[in-house]
Amino acid sequence: MSILWYITCLLLLHFCTPGFSMHDGIVDGKVSVPHSRPYMVYIRDKLTKISCGGFLVKEDYVMTAAHCKHNHLMVYLGVDNTNILPDGIEVKPIPHENFTMKRPDHDIMLLKLKSPATLNETVNTITLPKTENEEISKHCMVMGWGWQDYNNMSPSNVLKEANVTLIDSENCGTADTLCTEGSTGPAQGDSGGPLVCGGVVQGIVSFNKNSINGDKLAVYTHISHYLPWIKDNMKPLQQRQYETWKGKLDKIM
Ligand SMILES: *[C@@H]1O[C@H](CO)[C@@H](O)[C@H](O)[C@H]1NC(C)=O
Ligand SMILES: *[C@@H]1O[C@H](CO)[C@@H](O)[C@H](O)[C@H]1NC(C)=O
Ligand SMILES: *[C@@H]1O[C@H](CO)[C@@H](O)[C@H](O)[C@H]1NC(C)=O
Repeated sequence: MSILWYITCLLLLHFCTPGFSMHDGIVDGKVSVPHSRPYMVYIRDKLTKISCGGFLVKEDYVMTAAHCKHNHLMVYLGVDNTNILPDGIEVKPIPHENFTMKRPDHDIMLLKLKSPATLNETVNTITLPKTENEEISKHCMVMGWGWQDYNNMSPSNVLKEANVTLIDSENCGTADTLCTEGSTGPAQGDSGGPLVCGGVVQGIVSFNKNSINGDKLAVYTHISHYLPWIKDNMKPLQQRQYETWKGKLDKIM
């Protein structure tokens, strides 16, 4: 892995230059049946208009990549066509505390919704993994509104999806990532979106790179390695405050 790649591209999908590390995006995939992926969330910064994918894991929490953090993020639920957006919901970002743009690890973030979603046919949650390192079906699906073309900035207005196959992640990411390889997969703008395997979300789209033999690799945060972090950060605030306070008290006593 070249240092140049490291510097330019570690910075994850929306900072990578096209043609350098990006592949065709979800170009070989299909347009999703509208509203058939009700957990899928469109995320956009109000000011910069940079967008990411994400997914609803609870009425009031969206999960996405930590590198999607911007100062004025809004989430949009139940979206098919991004030209027809419902009212956005403001969020409080909770990125993993050890994520930095310099390293590929811990690219996970929760967004706490200021007002919880009402679940219905077009807005629903997706199941998180139950245990660390649970067996994962190799046949997965990834989706997003990201670039469809290798050479052009070409986000899709409608949600697209593609089948991808997990590979051994040695020589690909880190101990806390999953990888897929092939001519189809996520590209710029697909960051933060879900990698769904057997109906369970197992990964978060993080970044792309080229393999030694020139194939395209996509790297995802391995969600099951972050279950304790997820549990802690989705606790109601009062409970967290109580536990911090109780922890201090226990130490004193
Ligand atoms: C972040 O890194 C520090 C130092 O390595 C570690 O003590 C801490 O537990 C890490 N935080 C999380 C949430 O993993
Ligand atoms: C589902 O809820 C969303 C808002 O959360 C709303 O925009 C949409 O119209 C609702 N759909 C149905 C079928 O009620
Ligand atoms: C993914 O594979 C399933 C099962 O083979 C197939 O039904 C579906 O159409 C494929 N989806 C895409 C986007 O190619």
